Amino acid sequence: MKRKIITTGDGSKTIQISDWNEQYHSKHGAIQEAYHVFIEMGLSLFADRELSILEIGFGTGLNAFITFLEAEKRSLVINYNGVEKFPVSVEEVQQLNYVSELKAENYEDLFSRMHDSPWERDNLISENFRLTKRQLDFNEIDGAERYDLIYFDAFGARVQPELWTEDIFSRMYGVLKLEGVLVTYAAKGSVRRAMQAVGFEVERLPGPPGKREMLRAVKH
Ligand SMILES: C[S@@+](CC[C@H](N)C(=O)[O-])C[C@H]1O[C@@H](n2cnc3c(N)ncnc32)[C@H](O)[C@@H]1O
Repeated sequence: MKRKIITTGDGSKTIQISDWNEQYHSKHGAIQEAYHVFIEMGLSLFADRELSILEIGFGTGLNAFITFLEAEKRSLVINYNGVEKFPVSVEEVQQLNYVSELKAENYEDLFSRMHDSPWERDNLISENFRLTKRQLDFNEIDGAERYDLIYFDAFGARVQPELWTEDIFSRMYGVLKLEGVLVTYAAKGSVRRAMQAVGFEVERLPGPPGKREMLRAVKH
């Protein structure tokens, strides 16, 4: 599938899959969306503790990077697990402008390290951030009660309906710890019902700019 880099409404870049007319992030603003959905509605529920996060679709590493930037402010020690079947290339990473847009020049090396560090291994990226990237299909994720928080950031149901099913959400439910939380930018009724069918309690929350709603699911 052909990928190209585009600029979104807040000035930050993202990747577009032209054949699908689908982007890795909202066209209204990649950084803006990632902060709203994953940090404000997800990570900010936690403070002063160790936290295991699973990201569904590591992609550009934007979510991992902003999670690192926020972890310190919230006294969090993060074990970050990114699953990705089609890793981005070095050339693509070089065209992303997250470090400058986030005014995080002090951490330029750290963002590079997130991408350069080996897959299938535990990498200590900083004192409070451990990163494990696994090149896997989402359908191959297994284990039980391992994660406190899931960033569910797959492509939309319009282009990958098979990733928004009861089957996948039951897998997500299984790998979450009790009281664990899943956040996603999606808001479709069919997605909410699939989450509820496997046992999640689901809330509809205000979405990022350009999107009315998003979903947050909790395992009780
Ligand atoms: C919407 S993008 C988001 C990526 C990432 N969260 C980011 O901020 O850049 C979805 C990601 O899921 C990956 N992906 C799509 N289908 C997959 C599958 N079946 N298994 C694993 N990864 C998949 C894509 O390659 C892409 O990186």
